[in-house]
Amino acid sequence: MKKSSRRLRIAYYQFRPLFGQTENNLQKVLSALAQAEADLIVLPELPFTGYYFRDRAEVLALAEDPARSNTVEGLVELCRRRDFYLVTGFCECRNEKVYNSALLLGPEGVAHVYRKLHLFNEEKRYFDAGDLPLVVHEVRGVKIGLMVCFDWAFPEVARVLAIHGAEILCHPANLVLAYCQQAMAIRCLENRVFAVTANRFGNDHRPHGRLRFTGKSQIVAPSGRALYRAHAQREELGIVEIDLSEARDKSITPLNDVIADRRPNFYETLYRPGPAY
Ligand code: ACM
Repeated sequence: MKKSSRRLRIAYYQFRPLFGQTENNLQKVLSALAQAEADLIVLPELPFTGYYFRDRAEVLALAEDPARSNTVEGLVELCRRRDFYLVTGFCECRNEKVYNSALLLGPEGVAHVYRKLHLFNEEKRYFDAGDLPLVVHEVRGVKIGLMVCFDWAFPEVARVLAIHGAEILCHPANLVLAYCQQAMAIRCLENRVFAVTANRFGNDHRPHGRLRFTGKSQIVAPSGRALYRAHAQREELGIVEIDLSEARDKSITPLNDVIADRRPNFYETLYRPGPAY
């Protein structure tokens, strides 16, 4: 990312990971992105292990510590060669815990780790819920917020990241429901941010069942308009050049700013756990 320029090329790589084949999946990503002309590329959720685990033991067997991971080393080496940044889903283990994480990687190594806060369905049986605060990380003058898949259903996540100054939400996903693309367009509109949702396609066909993933990765502008949307079941590297200054302008009318006009004193219910009804 060129510091002086407000223009940058953001991208998703939509593909079909094969369950449990970490090395094959890594090689697939490294070769698909070897010539990519982009500044920031987002990969799907859990793109190296696959998604549909049988149990926690299976997650523990495939999870890696980012500080000692061949997968991370390979991706960081790619970032150095291409001088770009990657956001990738990652099956993370740390101190006997396993997280469905996202990593921001660049030529300097691991720049930021986010652990999925809102676990989806059976993930609750085998992952630990995220335990790190929502923070924004700046690389080369660009403020990046990370969220993972089902976090789309909790508007607080995008909102908190936007309040912290995020300009681009990077959103690795393994979607099985049909609502996320519309919801993320609204997250962009209501926070005036860009979002890259990188989904996978194909199936995890396992002995305990099958999940089909829905593709349609997308890049959305602060206006809520989809700048690029992938096919449902096709491998695709989608790259769009954006003008980042669009995400720095929070006005929605001449007299309204979607961040400054908030009335937090009236939102205190949001801080209480459990239902308010
Ligand atoms: C999901 O959170 N992977 C649906």
